[in-house]
Amino acid sequence: MNLAKQIYLRKSCRKYVDEFIDMGPIHEFIAQVKPLNEDINYRYEILEKDNVNLKTRWSAPYYLALYSEKKENYLVNIGFIFQQVSLFLQSIDVGSCWVGMGSIKNDDPEFIILIAFGKSDNKTRDISDFKRKKLSEICNVVDERLMPAQLAPSAINSQPWYFTRTDEGFDVYQVKQNILKRQILKKWNPIDVGIALAHLYVTNENTFKFEVKSNFENLKGHTYIGSVRI
Ligand SMILES: Cc1cc2nc3c(=O)[nH]c(=O)nc-3n(C[C@H](O)[C@H](O)[C@H](O)COP(=O)(O)O)c2cc1C
Repeated sequence: MNLAKQIYLRKSCRKYVDEFIDMGPIHEFIAQVKPLNEDINYRYEILEKDNVNLKTRWSAPYYLALYSEKKENYLVNIGFIFQQVSLFLQSIDVGSCWVGMGSIKNDDPEFIILIAFGKSDNKTRDISDFKRKKLSEICNVVDERLMPAQLAPSAINSQPWYFTRTDEGFDVYQVKQNILKRQILKKWNPIDVGIALAHLYVTNENTFKFEVKSNFENLKGHTYIGSVRI
């Protein structure tokens, strides 16, 4: 299984074929996935499309419904955990797409977000087809080690991550959106930052460490999320 390789060829998949998928390997992968914060309880279930409400014009045969208790950085944690799952799905030839514009039919206060998934003939692309901010726009010192984060998916491709270099690695910030965008993105942007951190984790599996410092530097227009060592 090479999750890091998937970062450079994945794309959000919105066209599926109705084919059966053996869920066994997916449950096994999730059982051993690395969380960002071990102290936050989360859970998931796999639903078929009849059990979700969608505002998307497309649908998939299956949906991961994600739930979490609400603690500091819980949305970042959900992004971190389930982007690893999305990369795993890609590695077993299954396409996926995070779905903010959807919900579950049976309301649950801990429900966070859906991930659509299923078999597809259209789930990879060439690296030149990624539409992303330049590295110089997402960090104070251009550093190629941030390329996996640069390529991460995000809600309406907002790419709300910003990194400042430290002696050990990077401080990680979420960009504060203007008032209009904030209404739409406030729940999703922390998930996006978690997704970018997952890309840094799978490309630095043995060295990656995350902590929330108390003596972090305030950065105008940004919210501090935590610090990584890679
Ligand atoms: C938190 C989150 C929510 C998203 N919600 C939707 C959605 O509701 N509908 C959709 O078509 N795509 C959704 N996406 C996919 C993004 O539009 C996509 O990641 C982005 O445009 C970048 O494209 P790429 O994933 O193909 O690299 C979502 C992505 C994230 C990370």
